[in-house]
Amino acid sequence: MKTLGIETSCDETAIAIYDSEKGIVGESIYSQINMHAEYGGVVPELASRDHCSKIVKVLKNALGDHPLDSIDQIAYTSGPGLLGALLIGESFAQGLSEALDIPLIPINHLEGHILAPGLEDDNLQTPYLCLLVSGGHTQIIECSEYGSYKILGETVDDACGEAFDKVGKLLNLDYPGGPKVSKLAEGGDPTRFNFPRALMKDRNLNFSFSGLKTAVLYALDDLEEKDYPDVAASFQEAVIDVLIKKLTYAIEETGIKKLVCSGGVAANRLLRERLTDMCKTSELEVSYPKMEFCTDNAAMIAYAGFIRKKYNLKEYPTKFARPRWPLGELYD
Ligand code: KG4
Ligand code: ZN
Repeated sequence: MKTLGIETSCDETAIAIYDSEKGIVGESIYSQINMHAEYGGVVPELASRDHCSKIVKVLKNALGDHPLDSIDQIAYTSGPGLLGALLIGESFAQGLSEALDIPLIPINHLEGHILAPGLEDDNLQTPYLCLLVSGGHTQIIECSEYGSYKILGETVDDACGEAFDKVGKLLNLDYPGGPKVSKLAEGGDPTRFNFPRALMKDRNLNFSFSGLKTAVLYALDDLEEKDYPDVAASFQEAVIDVLIKKLTYAIEETGIKKLVCSGGVAANRLLRERLTDMCKTSELEVSYPKMEFCTDNAAMIAYAGFIRKKYNLKEYPTKFARPRWPLGELYD
């Protein structure tokens, strides 16, 4: 069975084909990052227009030699995300589904991230805990079975990727700052600044990153550019310390020993190293999506569509883009 996945929730126009026998057999992604970098962040109106102008070409690239009528079903991101951007993907998906007379499956973008490690890891079995760290979300989710997600904790202010991006801006790095902050940190001393680790001693599983970003802002007052690698490294260290600590609490609370880390920040090398070390010493298991499937992509959406079909999960009742779509309300 072939599922065509469509992702347009933010600044990536992406289409992929997941074949239930062979995995991903076609994929194309167009990133708008360069266009938005000029403005220091995503401009929603420009994002919608660009999705509209690129999506047909992205479809053709993803299809390659696969005829359109070999597709069995279409899965697309229905939310959460930018409304205009979502509507482009949704209208496109509806048109294709109608013309080809095949099923249309709306997918929650977060579910795509949660399931993404399954694209490589055939042994990814529920239950597992997912640390979802992206530009819009920072959550610890209990995935007790496919389609059943409980948020155990989440950020009360900035998302983790958002904090990376804001600190990137403070350090004069281009948008998105995450990968650049982490690169800059490689040459820095992570112990030089003792930045705050908010809520770390609280046993609840919530996060807060806005104070950390403000602490970086104040620290920069007395510093020069040569100090920036130390700032980046100390900031990154503080973020990772909190993520790992809260995950430890979640493991203790639930007794679940299988972990998944996904979303854009899961591409962070140091975070992966720390999680892998923690798992080795505590007899836990961790899975990540491959690097390119950490940030937004359509492979994870196609795969989520396949999983929903395979396990015959309840369909989201109305097919209409949802800019806000908390996981807990998945298919209510
Ligand atoms: O999942 P994603 O592509 O989009 C959302 O759904 O939000 O995540 C993008 C976020 C951005 O904030 C970006 O700066 C961050 O992921 N990111 C990273 C790294 N690569 C991407 N943050 C830290 N280290 C990285 N290597
Ligand atoms: Zn995402």
